[in-house]
Amino acid sequence: MKHLIAPSLLSADFSELKKEIEMVNHSQADWFHIDVMDGVFVPNISFGFPVLKYIHKYAEKPLDVHLMIIEPDRYLQRFKETGAHVITVHYEACTHLHRTLQVIKNLGCKAGVSLNPHTPISVLEDIIAEIDVVLIMAVNPGYGGQKFIQRSYEKIKTLNKLIKNRNSDAIIEVDGGVTLDNARPLIDAGVDVLVAGNTVFGSENPEDTIRKLKEV
Ligand code: DX5
Ligand code: ZN
Repeated sequence: MKHLIAPSLLSADFSELKKEIEMVNHSQADWFHIDVMDGVFVPNISFGFPVLKYIHKYAEKPLDVHLMIIEPDRYLQRFKETGAHVITVHYEACTHLHRTLQVIKNLGCKAGVSLNPHTPISVLEDIIAEIDVVLIMAVNPGYGGQKFIQRSYEKIKTLNKLIKNRNSDAIIEVDGGVTLDNARPLIDAGVDVLVAGNTVFGSENPEDTIRKLKEV
């Protein structure tokens, strides 16, 4: 498949949120990446349902909701109601991951699992067949604009092998430190979806940067 681009609204200008959403609508981006942080699982708080509702109102592309929260099960239904297309939970935040993924799928959403930089791919061996999207964190979650962790390439390659060996349909998303320079090597390593916050919204012309990421 041609790779997908998911701009992370975390780096958008929230005083111009509607304009930023319209820019993404108008661009070659495929998804909106939405980072929800609870100040417990990660050392930062981002935004919650009132903002998400507003994003849903204006977004014309699927919402890729990345939950950096503990006990995500408590809120899955509400994320579905506020327009989530993909719901990604963290492996490190789920005690009964298999059950959580079933709930997400029964809600009619794509089920994603994210791994922190320190979590090995091997923890997914017995669950990979149930996953639609694996989100590899290439920075420690919590903030935009951090430096890409090089070890992530090896993890992506290992994950690719696991997906093939288990005949899984999971696609691979990478999040954190994605730039115009590492986009191509990441795709070559097996990435299907590139999340980009600072690279897009910190650039002179975000729409053109999305086009460049799409055309690398
Ligand atoms: C970090 C978030 C990312 C973040 C990426 O915890 O999950 O989605 O917005 O930002 P950049 O692309 O700037 O590293
Ligand atoms: Zn994210």
